[in-house]
Amino acid sequence: MVLTEGVEITGQIVVLRELRRSDLDAMATWPRFVEPELQWANLDLATERDRDAWYERNQGTLNRRRFTIWSRDGRALGTIGLRNIDFRYGEGTLGIIINAGDVSRGVGGDAIATLIRYAFEGLGLRKMYLDVAEGNDRARRCYDRVGFTQIGQHRGTDGITYIDMVLHRDRFIAMSAGQN
Ligand SMILES: CC(C)(COP(=O)(O)OP(=O)(O)OC[C@H]1O[C@@H](n2cnc3c(N)ncnc32)[C@H](O)[C@@H]1OP(=O)(O)O)[C@@H](O)C(=O)NCCC(=O)NCCS
Repeated sequence: MVLTEGVEITGQIVVLRELRRSDLDAMATWPRFVEPELQWANLDLATERDRDAWYERNQGTLNRRRFTIWSRDGRALGTIGLRNIDFRYGEGTLGIIINAGDVSRGVGGDAIATLIRYAFEGLGLRKMYLDVAEGNDRARRCYDRVGFTQIGQHRGTDGITYIDMVLHRDRFIAMSAGQN
């Protein structure tokens, strides 16, 4: 079952809008990461068929939500989503990519805080998970800032070590209050 609620969430500097097929045309023009360890973050959207396939894999369902990250002046900056949403346990898993031309400008940090707030306050989730490559210091900094803590680590099929992290709603709220 596909959900197209058209949800829009406003952050401090970004706006998150539920993924639309038309977003893929802008996303296809994003500059690519050159770093070998970030090749996975380059989306393969060269053809209409690629874009249809990516949209099919990423559009919202009962246990998955995907948003495009927009600047206030209407540029598509990145993509952020929740997968493995389980309302029985009140949990989900976060994933995010900011395009290579807009990293390290505060966009990712704001998008992460904005989506987490929506997940906890809007969707009623209580726990957020993610995993991040051990050497991905920029991402880890963003996750530390909103309160994620390490609960373990695992070796991926690519041979890379991933840090498993969790964020509980109460901690997020407490940390957000401390930053105001
Ligand atoms: C990870 C990602 C989402 C972060 O978004 P962003 O917009 O680049 O991040 P921000 O600018 O909001 O914040 C980056 C923070 O990391 C810090 N930072 C930047 N480069 C860093 C580095 N090499 N080492 C340590 N910290 C670094 C910045 O100073 C900033 O922290 P501060 O706000 O406390 O100063 C984005 O870089 C991205 O999409 N990268 C490629 C894909 C990816 O790694 N996704 C996450 C997979 S788990």
